[in-house]
Amino acid sequence: MKITVIGLGYLGATHAVAMAQLGHEVIGIEPDDKKREALASGKLPFYEPGLDTALIEVIKQGNIIFKASHEQDSIEAELHFICVGTPQKQGSNAADTKYLFAAIEALAPYLNENAVVVGKSTVPVGTAKELTNKLSTLVSFEPKLAWNPEFLREGTALEDSLKPDRIVIGTEDSYSEKQIREVYKPITDNQQTPVLITDIPTAELVKAAANSFLATKISFINAMAEIAEVSGADTVKLAEAIGMDDRIGKLFLRNGIGFGGGCLPKDIRGLMARAEELGVGQAVGFLDEVDQINLRRRKRVVDLAVEELGDVSGRKISMLGATFKPDSDDLRDSPALSIALELAELGAEVYVHDPVAVEYLQHNEKSLHATEDLKEALADSELTILGTEWKEYKQLDPAKLSVKNKVVIDGRNVLDRSAWENAGWKMTSLGRG
Ligand code: UGA
Repeated sequence: MKITVIGLGYLGATHAVAMAQLGHEVIGIEPDDKKREALASGKLPFYEPGLDTALIEVIKQGNIIFKASHEQDSIEAELHFICVGTPQKQGSNAADTKYLFAAIEALAPYLNENAVVVGKSTVPVGTAKELTNKLSTLVSFEPKLAWNPEFLREGTALEDSLKPDRIVIGTEDSYSEKQIREVYKPITDNQQTPVLITDIPTAELVKAAANSFLATKISFINAMAEIAEVSGADTVKLAEAIGMDDRIGKLFLRNGIGFGGGCLPKDIRGLMARAEELGVGQAVGFLDEVDQINLRRRKRVVDLAVEELGDVSGRKISMLGATFKPDSDDLRDSPALSIALELAELGAEVYVHDPVAVEYLQHNEKSLHATEDLKEALADSELTILGTEWKEYKQLDPAKLSVKNKVVIDGRNVLDRSAWENAGWKMTSLGRG
């Protein structure tokens, strides 16, 4: 099928490549010259394992082209996937939907009567209706708009797109449903991927609800960690024990410095803001506590550092990892980075090591010493903090690391405690009394 993918950020670029891999003819629309030119030359503007080689492959196959804005060929597209960002508004919890409206306005002159507009961005429930109303004023026919949320995770984005747990299609007309089913047919034919047809508000809400549930699970276990730390219990064992109950499930119960990134924090706040607008803010009031528990974990690490060193001013602290999770270069709302910045604010000399984010940090976070050299990051350090569970940190041999004080805070509960303690390190693990 001929499709356009509008907005080639994390979601859009991955979706465009995935659709091209399925054999569709993809026009990727991205006004940002730097991003678009990188993609057109086979380079990703962000780090995502596996997506880079897939991009080169689909460019070679001729299944994808990139444009700054719609041109005549967009008129022939059967589906237009809208993948623009919906960031948190400045000074508010709400999501900013202005890029969606801009995308609709730019698309309208190129929309043919049979084409289906498919929203994939994470939006406040009710947005699709507003977009349809807007679109109706811009075209001379009744536009077809559906919602099809995306559940991909950074680090496994392409795999999540090609082998999703489920495909949710929010639509109120059978033609749109048929067209969207058709575009995903190579996925649903090969695997047993369930397709769930819903009304449009449900499809919009599914995404916000899923991310809010995941965030709640993480904050739940981090709340237990607060209790474990003062009672001598072990949160890792606790999570294992409760996770064995199928009704609870073991995933997303890893305690530590909490969740970050461009999605979970923004989406719980966005849901709270939307519920408030709809007059049912109380229904998700608990999400504010989910947010607070999450932020308290960052403060806990700063407090532990102060407890350990006393005055941190002028003291060298090493932070292992800066990104919000491994296999991603995303630093948005990263717990590791936020702790590093807070310690630097208190006067510490914070050396940050990260496998992929150092260049960005060197240019943009001048209060930190970012280095690609692990030895330099650790030399003469008085405290080491593991902030992101990159594979290389899990594989470190603690006996071979040269520091001033062998003291480590494991912010992700991934280091082998006995190996580190046997090598003479004092280890504090979050959530383990
Ligand atoms: C999240 C969702 O998992 C995806 O399903 C969704 O599509 C995506 O947001 C989105 O809205 O686009 P992502 O932000 O890539 O994906 O990252 P996650 O794997 O969900 O991790 C989020 C944060 O939670 C990370 O900082 C991670 O370290 C933390 N986390 C995760 C924990 O602290 N404990 C856990 O048990 C799991």
